[in-house]
Amino acid sequence: MKIIVEKTYERMCRMAANILSAQIILKADSVLGLATGSTPCGIYKQLIDWYNKGDVDFSKVRTVNLDEYVGLAPEHDQSYRYYMDQNLFDHVNIDKANTHVPNGLAKDAQAECLRYDKLIQSLGGTDVQLLGIGLNGHIGFNEPSDVFDTGTHCVDLTESTIEANSRFFEREEDVPRQAITMGIKTIMQAKKIVLAINGEKKREIAKNALYGPVTPLCPASVLQLHPDVTVVLDEAAAGLLG
Ligand code: F6R
Repeated sequence: MKIIVEKTYERMCRMAANILSAQIILKADSVLGLATGSTPCGIYKQLIDWYNKGDVDFSKVRTVNLDEYVGLAPEHDQSYRYYMDQNLFDHVNIDKANTHVPNGLAKDAQAECLRYDKLIQSLGGTDVQLLGIGLNGHIGFNEPSDVFDTGTHCVDLTESTIEANSRFFEREEDVPRQAITMGIKTIMQAKKIVLAINGEKKREIAKNALYGPVTPLCPASVLQLHPDVTVVLDEAAAGLLG
């Protein structure tokens, strides 16, 4: 595990964006695994900036997103498809047909999960997976549990995640209670992983995930077992790493 600490959130984003753009430059049709939430916003902004300067070309890039809420249409302003369009896809020359997000409206969620794992396989697997981390150690929507979940699956969100996400919704009742997420196995099959962590609130979980025991009670701790993980943190999040 390679750990890189940057002074500010902006510098952390630049470092993570560097890894993603290097991947695209080395392999134009790379499969990028992407995340949503507040952490990657600055990373996507940096990529858009480099795209505008002509430094990175998304025309052949393929993407697979980690997760999507169950019950939200792609046009819903809190759906992860909408987030990706707004924060990245609408601003670069990516072919939207090459961008994939689980279908939160699928009638048969089980079948959708199987389809999604097969899709990732058919693309040749994920070259680089970008991850954020939840305050409880979740990655994707793999919440703390007794076992490491396997493939893409449908999950009930925990109260702490619903509460954390409620900041994006008008009322807490509007936050979806379920999501489709890549499983730990799906994530661990990525050839390379970049985990971005920022802010003082994530100090404790950063320490537990990176240096604590590997346990499904802290899903991100499994990343300690992956052969090619780069963790980029700002100083605020790295405060307890010693
Ligand atoms: C989002 C995702 C989540 C977030 C995590 C951190 O696609 O999979 O695991 O990465 O909840 O969210 P933020 O960045 O908002 O703190």
